[in-house]
Amino acid sequence: MRIAVIGTGHVGLVTGVALASLGHEVVGTDANPERVALLSGGTAPFREPGLDDLLHEGMQSGGLRFAASIAEAVEGAAVVMICVGRPPAGLGDTSLVAVESAVRDLARHAAQGVVVVVKSTVPPGTTARIEHVIRLERPDLDFAIVSSPEFLREGHAIEDTLEPDRLVAGSDSERGFAAIRELYAPLLVGGRRLIETDPRSAELSKLASNAFLALKISYANALARVAERSGADVTQVTRIVGADTRIGPAFLGAGLGYGGYCLPKDVVTLEQLAHRLGYEFGLLREATRVNDEALDSVARKVEEALWNLEGKRVALFGLAFKAGTDDVRGAPALGLARRLLSEGADVVGWDPMAGQAAKQEVPELQLAREAWEAAAGAHCVVICAEWPEIVELDLSKLRSLMAYPVVVDGRNFLDPRQVRDAGLTYVSVGRGQETESG
Ligand code: UGA
Repeated sequence: MRIAVIGTGHVGLVTGVALASLGHEVVGTDANPERVALLSGGTAPFREPGLDDLLHEGMQSGGLRFAASIAEAVEGAAVVMICVGRPPAGLGDTSLVAVESAVRDLARHAAQGVVVVVKSTVPPGTTARIEHVIRLERPDLDFAIVSSPEFLREGHAIEDTLEPDRLVAGSDSERGFAAIRELYAPLLVGGRRLIETDPRSAELSKLASNAFLALKISYANALARVAERSGADVTQVTRIVGADTRIGPAFLGAGLGYGGYCLPKDVVTLEQLAHRLGYEFGLLREATRVNDEALDSVARKVEEALWNLEGKRVALFGLAFKAGTDDVRGAPALGLARRLLSEGADVVGWDPMAGQAAKQEVPELQLAREAWEAAAGAHCVVICAEWPEIVELDLSKLRSLMAYPVVVDGRNFLDPRQVRDAGLTYVSVGRGQETESG
């Protein structure tokens, strides 16, 4: 199928290269001309495992290319996918301006019979609005529209796209469903099926999924607060709770809380949407509060361990919002950095991928090229993301380089015994016994 993809962020670019790898003919475009130029030269604008290979393969085979305008991208396309980003919530309705602008443009240039697929995360009713805008803009256009939300995770985006847990199509049109079945046909194997529904349910399902993941994490963090006070170990508690197949072990990791471009934003978007519709979704407000509290709790542990922060050097290991990505949007590490800096600490950060991006966001942050450089002279190391490189560090060497021997593990990532055996004081999250034994 000939497919146009509008927007080349994580969703658009990954979807584009994945569909090209399945044999479709894909043309991507973006409102940012520099990004289009970069992609046309074969360079991805962000890091994602497997992305570079699929990008090169697609471009070499001729199945993937990038166009400077929506007009050029949608010319002759049977399917047009809207993957335009949405700025963080709090900007109200203005956050969908980029989506509307792309829709007006595509309506003017799309081919007769086109199927428009909305992949951006949008509130329920947006697909209906898009349909309305296309009709106003181009009354003669024969088209169908489908909401097909994307559930890919950064750092696993290619595998999540090519081996999805679920594929969703929300439409009122049989032609829309048929196009999606054809588009995803290579993925509909081994019992995997397309969940067909109405557009509003499809749209809401995406916000609902992200908000539920956030609820699980906040539940674990609230449990951590109780575990700390009661002498239990939250990692043991969630291990037992998560062994119930009705609950599942994923996303029960207590620590610094959830960050990133999606979870924090989507929790707020769903809460505000409910409010506008006359329902107070207090559960979601509470999830956000517990998430803020999780970061605050780790900051307090650092303060507790170091007494006055003025003149102390704190090293943050892992600056991305999670391991496996160079994305620092909504990164808990940066929230922590700002707080420690405001209290007078010198903060030095190290990350295998996200250092430069972090420095741009928090210019006062000192950047280290490697973990040892960050640890040298530090009064405390804080683990902020679960990079495998951190587990491989020689803990005795770490101890010998630091000014004070304190490790605050904001992700419960290291083995407590190993850290203590190296002569380091180990502070983690939600382990009450540890506080008692010091
Ligand atoms: C999230 C969803 O997981 C995807 O399904 C969705 O498609 C995507 O948003 C999106 O809307 O585009 P992502 O933002 O890549 O994906 O990040 P997650 O893997 O969900 O992690 C979010 C945050 O939660 C990270 O800061 C992570 O460290 C934190 N987390 C995760 C915890 O604090 N505890 C856990 O147990 C798991």
